[in-house]
Amino acid sequence: MTTPLGTPLSPDATRVMLLGSGELGKEVLIALQRLGVETIAVDRYENAPGQQVAHHARTITMSDPAQLKALIEAEKPHLVVPEIEAIATPMLQALEDAGAVRVIPTARAARLTMDREGIRRLAAETLGVPTSPYEFCDSLEELQAAIDAGIGYPCIVKPVMSSSGKGQSKIDGPTDVKKAWDYAMAGGRVSHGRVIVEGFIDFDYEITLLTVRALDAKASVQTQFCEPIGHVQVSGDYVESWQPHPMSPVALKKAQQIAKAVTDDLGGQGLFGVELFVKGEEVWFSEVSPRPHDTGMVTMATQWQNEFELHARAILGLPVDTTLKSAGASAVIYGGVDATGIVFDGVAEALQVHGVDIRLFGKPESFVKRRMGVALAHAADIDTARANAKEAASRVKPRKA
Ligand SMILES: Nc1ncnc2c1ncn2[C@@H]1O[C@H](COP(=O)(O)OP(=O)(O)OP(=O)(O)O)[C@@H](O)[C@H]1O
Ligand SMILES: [Mg+2]
Repeated sequence: MTTPLGTPLSPDATRVMLLGSGELGKEVLIALQRLGVETIAVDRYENAPGQQVAHHARTITMSDPAQLKALIEAEKPHLVVPEIEAIATPMLQALEDAGAVRVIPTARAARLTMDREGIRRLAAETLGVPTSPYEFCDSLEELQAAIDAGIGYPCIVKPVMSSSGKGQSKIDGPTDVKKAWDYAMAGGRVSHGRVIVEGFIDFDYEITLLTVRALDAKASVQTQFCEPIGHVQVSGDYVESWQPHPMSPVALKKAQQIAKAVTDDLGGQGLFGVELFVKGEEVWFSEVSPRPHDTGMVTMATQWQNEFELHARAILGLPVDTTLKSAGASAVIYGGVDATGIVFDGVAEALQVHGVDIRLFGKPESFVKRRMGVALAHAADIDTARANAKEAASRVKPRKA
């Protein structure tokens, strides 16, 4: 569906509401504003990065169905764009079913990807896509039984409701099982008590395949792929990414087929971040974000249209261009301190590195391991880009004000 574009802050404005306004939402909001869209940035705390650039800022508990419903009914946005997983998605589904709102890409996609069980069962059991072996467990006893019955060691335990590696750990042998269970219970988003245990895939590398469902000239949805993005995760959290990650033609084709199968089923219009593991010519599906992906921030340095612009265009029904402009890399800038209103030293020194750009997200509060910014680099090859992005990130020194 194409959404007509109006004039912001006028009666015919095209209004888009972002649910979640972190660093990824901020860039989506900027991309929307460049097309004259009126934006409403929602988050759970005041002055979230996206709220600082949107026309309107609203602060609610997005996992509370009543608060979410009241806000959507008051604001009447044309599109609701989830940017995080922790949202009352059954309420979004009810509002979409009632014709009250259009959810991006669909309410069902938001619901299925908000916990690991919905998307994993869809991919592995309904679509037959290759994944790690897995079981869902509700107690330490069930976890131990699943490992003994076939998952084996090493394996990975994750709360079904968590992201950025929270509550996730690797089990190398029987003595780690209780520790992993306790860690998962402390790290999940809600005290849900349910985990997935996955057999460990000894992959050569992992990629994010940004996959865009956008309208073509005949107004039918076409799937387009960006070049694969390679990345490094530490404790389940991304620290570095680069594009294009070299892949054998066979593995790339399999990756695209898996991404297409999963995103076709999720449907709607928009950009998806499909996470895949690759070993030789074998490819496994890991998970998918029905929205821009953190590892995809590299596209701000590498593509003619970055992942945020692609998402903005696709959801509005506009054509997209996924072509690569240059090889490049991103490296995360962490807070390094627990403090509010921090100051960043060394930005000029960082920008002296060849081909480098910086984003500082403007988060009001810093934690030692909170992502506060990112260094981006373009270069003739990914090795140079990675080295330059990391060098630039290391030159930025956050400190207490
Ligand atoms: N079964 C597995 N075998 C090997 N490595 C894995 C497995 N599952 C997860 N990992 C590693 O842990 C990382 C994080 O896992 P996953 O993406 O499932 O968690 P997450 O909390 O959703 O992370 P994020 O929100 O950052 O995407 C993966 O990118 C991969 O490096
Ligand atoms: Mg992931």
